[in-house]
Amino acid sequence: MQTVRPYQAGDRDACLALFDGNTPRFFDPSERAGFAAWLENSTHPYLVIERDGVIVACGGHALDAGGTVASLCWGMVAQDLHGQGLGRALTQARLDAIRAVPGVAKVSMNTSQHTQAFYARFGFQTVKVTQDGFGPGIDQWDMLLSLNERDHIAAVPLEKAYRLLNHGPSILVSARHDGIDNVMAAAWACALDFSPPKLTVVLDKATRTRALVEGSGTFVIQVPTAAQLQLTHAVGTHSLDAQPDKLARAGVRLLHMDGFDLPFVAGCSAWLACRLIPEPHNQAAYDLFIGEVVGAWADTRVFRDGHWHFEDADPSWRSLHYIAGGRFYAIGEALDAAPS
Ligand SMILES: Cc1cc2nc3c(=O)[nH]c(=O)nc-3n(C[C@H](O)[C@H](O)[C@H](O)COP(=O)(O)O)c2cc1C
Repeated sequence: MQTVRPYQAGDRDACLALFDGNTPRFFDPSERAGFAAWLENSTHPYLVIERDGVIVACGGHALDAGGTVASLCWGMVAQDLHGQGLGRALTQARLDAIRAVPGVAKVSMNTSQHTQAFYARFGFQTVKVTQDGFGPGIDQWDMLLSLNERDHIAAVPLEKAYRLLNHGPSILVSARHDGIDNVMAAAWACALDFSPPKLTVVLDKATRTRALVEGSGTFVIQVPTAAQLQLTHAVGTHSLDAQPDKLARAGVRLLHMDGFDLPFVAGCSAWLACRLIPEPHNQAAYDLFIGEVVGAWADTRVFRDGHWHFEDADPSWRSLHYIAGGRFYAIGEALDAAPS
């Protein structure tokens, strides 16, 4: 069994043994005294991961004087257990602990060339690289993570907007009309044109979201992530008509985008703001709605430079692909075809 718990004085030797196992590849021997002193004296939060009674990872964070920047410190995983997801679990536990502290806006950390890519997957950005900064052969990478999700959202050029849907994800449709916001899941959404970008989505007559789209002439298509599996299923199986607090119950948090009076679902990987191109016959006969994309954004942790980067991003960013009966697949590995 694996548990994350706060460090206790009796864990000291086990933590130092983790340090020793990771020396000299990840730590320079000269750092050991500093780590021992930290364990002895620090009042900052420090966590350990215990697996079957054995300490297999440890790491903590400290807050700066103003309480707005947290720094990750002394994170390590047992040398023989690297590559088993312990580092990810530890980092996630530390970031969750930091997010629970009001007022913290950024997380800073320094690491080496061996682990910088790991932290980049959590959204840390490189601020500075100092060659041999930790000792001979161990460079120091100073990295910073913004906890403000807006810092990770970037506009996508409209001519690239089709790529946000090209891989066929299940999506969320949201709309606002007469002071009412709603969100539903949809599997039947598809890119339709490059420029101006257009898309189609099938909205059943029984859905409340459809009435809001028809009433306002606008809607948002957004790409939910594997982390939003339950949310996606919940907004796809409950109607606002039957459940007035549907969004709150599903855990939907809405974002505002300047210039758009539309409900954007926070935590998604991409958003397409659409203007309805009214086609009454298609809508009535086939439930088929056509939208022109008038704004597009994506989270740069998984979509940047006009491309998805699922292979580098944390797995929680993967798109969802609906089968039936509550079963989804998360997007799989990249396969590159040779030029034909
Ligand atoms: C993964 C998933 C995909 C769905 N795809 C569609 C779809 O493409 N079109 C549709 O009309 N309904 C689809 N639904 C069903 C609607 O999301 C569902 O009817 C929802 O409760 C409507 O909510 P509302 O009445 O509050 O708008 C899907 C549901 C799930 C779970």
